[in-house]
Amino acid sequence: MTILVTGDSGYVGTVLCKQLLNNGHKITGLDLDFFLENDLILYNREYKRLKKDINEIHEDDLKNIETIIHLAGLSNDPLGELNEKLTYKINFDGTINLIEKAKIAGVKNFLYASTQSVYGISENIENEITEDSKNIQPITAYAKSKYKAEQIMLKKKSENFRVVIFRPATVFGPSVNFRSDIVLNNLVASAYLYEKLIIQSDGKPWRPLLHVNDMCQFFIKSIDKADKLNGETINLGYPGYNFQVVDLANKVKKIIPKAKIIIENKKIDNRTYKVSFDKAFKLFKDEINFDLNIERSISELVNYFDKVKSNKEMFEGRKTIRIKQLKYLIENKKFLNK
Ligand SMILES: NC(=O)c1ccc[n+]([C@@H]2O[C@H](COP(=O)([O-])OP(=O)(O)OC[C@H]3O[C@@H](n4cnc5c(N)ncnc54)[C@H](O)[C@@H]3O)[C@@H](O)[C@H]2O)c1
Repeated sequence: MTILVTGDSGYVGTVLCKQLLNNGHKITGLDLDFFLENDLILYNREYKRLKKDINEIHEDDLKNIETIIHLAGLSNDPLGELNEKLTYKINFDGTINLIEKAKIAGVKNFLYASTQSVYGISENIENEITEDSKNIQPITAYAKSKYKAEQIMLKKKSENFRVVIFRPATVFGPSVNFRSDIVLNNLVASAYLYEKLIIQSDGKPWRPLLHVNDMCQFFIKSIDKADKLNGETINLGYPGYNFQVVDLANKVKKIIPKAKIIIENKKIDNRTYKVSFDKAFKLFKDEINFDLNIERSISELVNYFDKVKSNKEMFEGRKTIRIKQLKYLIENKKFLNK
């Protein structure tokens, strides 16, 4: 059976494809390759790839595909705000086009990477947010486009077309196609390069985290039980592992003791939320290791920075910061000039 991974050349996609290949799966990748030139590690994608917009996918592209893992999109809140129209065109229109063509082509499973941004700003920080629709309050174009797509895909599900929606926590960890625009990767890179852990807010916002390897495992373990999970929406993360940003900085300091924590308290960060991962635990407790060892993960990132010889240009430029790369593509009329 062939699995189509959209967004296969991105941060999560490259890790997922390696894991799928290691598990013996046959895969096809589909991506517009916005970030392909930014790989930090030499990597030949040795499987069939389609360089195509999800808006232009045709049912013939999906022949013999049994499962689609849909990661492609403009993939965080700041990217979504850069051009709202484009965000809807990719994250909503493109996703719906993919679903419609998948149904015609007879694809059986559709596994979707949504986001916890659909919960917006938490009003009562003591309550962990469950998947319940009463908690939905998308604020940004990114969150709204993702949530609208979720609603349509649930209507399109059937016994023969199984839909599973995942809302992952903020991801961290090494990847061939790395990002330094996400909280833990950013803190560790800053401590590693500058011996500084700069927190622009007061450090109190809560953030749930998810290792990139585990995000991929959730998808892989779902393929064989997509019939059981059909129609489910699942927060991805580890029960009990919500962190305050200042906690994370202290944990990084344990591994890089020279790094100085600087709480600037200059920006108000409203994005504070604690998420419940009880449902993910119930469904995957036998397949996923839910004991996150954050110190070990920080050391893993330090080793990765040694390996890629991380430097200022890599960390501050378009190589690892998505919004800078997207602006560059738009300014240079590459891919996004329609
Ligand atoms: N990284 C995280 O912290 C995180 C957290 C929660 C959810 N997610 C979701 O997981 C998915 C993967 O995230 P990521 O961090 O790997 O993102 P990424 O930005 O690294 O990768 C997205 C990929 O999609 C491709 N793409 C964009 N528009 C396309 C189009 N129209 N047609 C074909 N390809 C297109 C890009 O070229 C890129 O390679 C995203 O949907 C994101 O919203 C990510």
